[in-house]
Amino acid sequence: MAKFKSKWICQNCGYESFSYLGKCPDCGRFSTFIEEVVQEKTEVKSKNSSLNFVNLDSLKYTKIKDVKTDDSIRIKSGMEELDRVLGGGFVEGSLCLLAGDPGIGKSTLILQSANNIAKQGKKILYICAEESTSQVKLRAKRLNADNENIYVTQQNCLEEITKQIEELKPDFLVVDSIQSVFSAQIVSSIGSISQIRECTNILMRIAKQYNVTTIIIGHVTKEGNIAGPKVLEHMVDCVLNFEGEKYKTTRILRGIKNRFGAVFEVGVFNMEDSGLVEIKNPSELFLSDRENIMTSGSTVIAALEGTRCLLLEVQALTGVSPYPNPRRVARGVEYDRLLQILAVLEKRVGLNLSRSDVYINVIGGIDIIEPAADLSIALAVLTSAKDCIINHKTICLGEIGLNGEIRSVDNLEARLKEAQKLGFERAIIPKINNKTVLERIKKIDIKTYEVSKIPDAIKFIDSHPC
Ligand code: TYD
Ligand code: MG
Repeated sequence: MAKFKSKWICQNCGYESFSYLGKCPDCGRFSTFIEEVVQEKTEVKSKNSSLNFVNLDSLKYTKIKDVKTDDSIRIKSGMEELDRVLGGGFVEGSLCLLAGDPGIGKSTLILQSANNIAKQGKKILYICAEESTSQVKLRAKRLNADNENIYVTQQNCLEEITKQIEELKPDFLVVDSIQSVFSAQIVSSIGSISQIRECTNILMRIAKQYNVTTIIIGHVTKEGNIAGPKVLEHMVDCVLNFEGEKYKTTRILRGIKNRFGAVFEVGVFNMEDSGLVEIKNPSELFLSDRENIMTSGSTVIAALEGTRCLLLEVQALTGVSPYPNPRRVARGVEYDRLLQILAVLEKRVGLNLSRSDVYINVIGGIDIIEPAADLSIALAVLTSAKDCIINHKTICLGEIGLNGEIRSVDNLEARLKEAQKLGFERAIIPKINNKTVLERIKKIDIKTYEVSKIPDAIKFIDSHPC
């Protein structure tokens, strides 16, 4: 008879404990433990071996050379931006997780791409675990995405879903959302980590067994994480994050994990009345408000997001603080990175901001994670503090070391080419020691100013007023 046990499980990483813990020893988060009732697993013991956790009969090995591989076939989603993030389309039989805040447009994105895939003659099964089929139909009508190859079912019991998959044999499966699906085999409540983990596990097996390309939609928690993120990230083939600001229509799709392509690729969309519209040249959109505004504290960086180069404006505002502890606000850049840059500016160029508030904002709602943005951030802060304007047709690139030295950046050529394409005339870049890179850069129609220390960059600003 099956035995049931009560366990406390961290809802962030799946760590299990027999008692409540305030802080998870594995992921270090606080107040994430929830009591769940789980079924005890019975061990299958092999008579002849001490390796009682392996079924020896199933142990068959073969030379790696002889392992057969199916050529993974890509299914194009009909949306270039989505295909780019996926590395060229959905891989047949793969399982992909799409995560994002409620209301960001996950269902819209998937329904639009499902419609495009349905047009290619593929059968789609859309599991409405959260909404009614009529709600999905309304959205489909609005998006003009009610192709006859799309089947919908309002179901959240995994065992029933499995039966329907076996019956319909779809090519493409959408589960909207994984937090609303439950397995009758698990005693834990719906949405708990045990349920999410087990349901994803079963869906993964179905995807591989029936070669059904599966997308599961997942909500993020208040802290911005996918519920049970670590557990799910390990299990699925791809993790895509759909992000955007609450009061803006721009949406960014970011690849966090991809077993079949590059990670950190981004796709940019605009949420309009008739659904999501792809933005093929996002740099133009992000810089569109900049032309007419010539203010201090504004620089532009050519940031690499996956294989794509995006031109983004970094804005800084400094001023005497009315607070006892001056504020540092970093939107779009890492907070610790900002503090480090401010410390370097104080030590190496004598810019004292200990009594000033410092605000940094990257326009467009994109997070810049690469250190190549250091120089851009530093010069935005400097020009705001000194109230001077950097020539607006200039881009700034370079990582700043603790000694104030400007370090090289990856893929300089691609970044300069993108800047030149968008009409930028000058670039402040780190000193180039590689002759081949130097020769290639000379061919690009953009004036480059090599700097090895922050004071060199300041000299450039002083000698190139607007
Ligand atoms: P939805 O895809 O339901 O979000 P999620 O599945 O992530 O919860 O999208 C919800 C929002 O998108 C809602 O606020 C309305 C807006 N929207 C549009 O602006 N245009 C559209 O064509 C659609 C379908 C939705
Ligand atoms: Mg939805």
